[in-house]
Amino acid sequence: MSSATACAQPNIALVKYWGKRDEKLILPATGSLSMTLDSFTTTTSVHVGEDADSFTLNGSPASLAATQRTTGFLELVRELAGDDRPAAVVSTNEAPTGAGLASSASGFAALALAASAAYGLDLDQPALSRLARRGSGSACRSIVPGFAVWHAGTDDASSYAEPVPAPDLRLVIVTIDGHQKAVSSRDAMRLTRDTSPFYDGWVSSTREVLDEMVIACRAGDVARIGELTELHALRMHAVIASSRPPVRYLAPASVSVLDTAEALRASGVQAWATADAGPNVCLLTTPGDADEVAAAVGGLGGVRVVAPGPGARLVSPELGAQPVP
Ligand code: ADP
Ligand code: DP6
Ligand code: CO
Repeated sequence: MSSATACAQPNIALVKYWGKRDEKLILPATGSLSMTLDSFTTTTSVHVGEDADSFTLNGSPASLAATQRTTGFLELVRELAGDDRPAAVVSTNEAPTGAGLASSASGFAALALAASAAYGLDLDQPALSRLARRGSGSACRSIVPGFAVWHAGTDDASSYAEPVPAPDLRLVIVTIDGHQKAVSSRDAMRLTRDTSPFYDGWVSSTREVLDEMVIACRAGDVARIGELTELHALRMHAVIASSRPPVRYLAPASVSVLDTAEALRASGVQAWATADAGPNVCLLTTPGDADEVAAAVGGLGGVRVVAPGPGARLVSPELGAQPVP
């Protein structure tokens, strides 16, 4: 039997991915840009050579839907490796699962690396990013350390994430509700594309924001990065809410965090809000302002200050962390 264990962290998008142009290959409608976190680790072990596939998440057998998603992903790895043996997947998430804190990103980044190693594949960073993308689009960015751009690409081979230079930033994560969201990112994304009258505008404006964001990141322009981040998050929640039936991920307490960001800025503190598909809000700030921002949102939820972190890496008791070449 061959086994491998990998760790990966979630990433929070500053320019969001919301909409696919190919559901099977998970090719996005546009590119996106994110920060991979140094916290909320997912650790995943894959043991090849079992009697049947299985998926244990946070100590218990996972739901049927999550197990089928993992098994479907293992099928891709088995095809690449030319090895049809079943595997046991055992994973733990430090972030809440399915709550808009990118568990699918850390989950499939760690699974892509652990499964490819356990089945004997030796993939470089772009190839691993492409593989992780097939599990969950956002996962392709968690292969990469720090700030990453996911190129929309034109086909499977050209759609992967790579590092982008950016200033040192912090995210203050405000966990308002750790429960699983009622509508998964995948389902809500499809609904938005199929029913929102604003979807085309969302796609074309995202391309423009991404171009501006890459320029701002390269220039180290923190205020511009922050403004674009908040603008783009609010546009995403607006287009999601314009679906039929509507989907609304932000809760009253999420809006209070948005208000706090505005008040902080008015008093000269750098803080801009973003939220993925869930009620939990992240405030983008500088290392110098992070403590003040964290103190300001202390009463609104669980608060954690996170920095840019490493990409997915193999771990083993004997060897310690092994970064992807
Ligand atoms: P999130 O906001 O947490 O990314 P999503 O709706 O995108 O929420 O994805 C949640 C799904 O991702 C879970 O229902 C499960 O199918 C999958 N997932 C989460 N964590 C893991 C993991 N560690 N390993 C494999 N799949 C995972
Ligand atoms: C709001 O990557 O979870 O977090 O590709 O269907 O698995 P699937 O969706 P997922 O969507 C992430 C949406 C988002 C924005 C982002 O991370 O860019
Ligand atoms: Co997700």
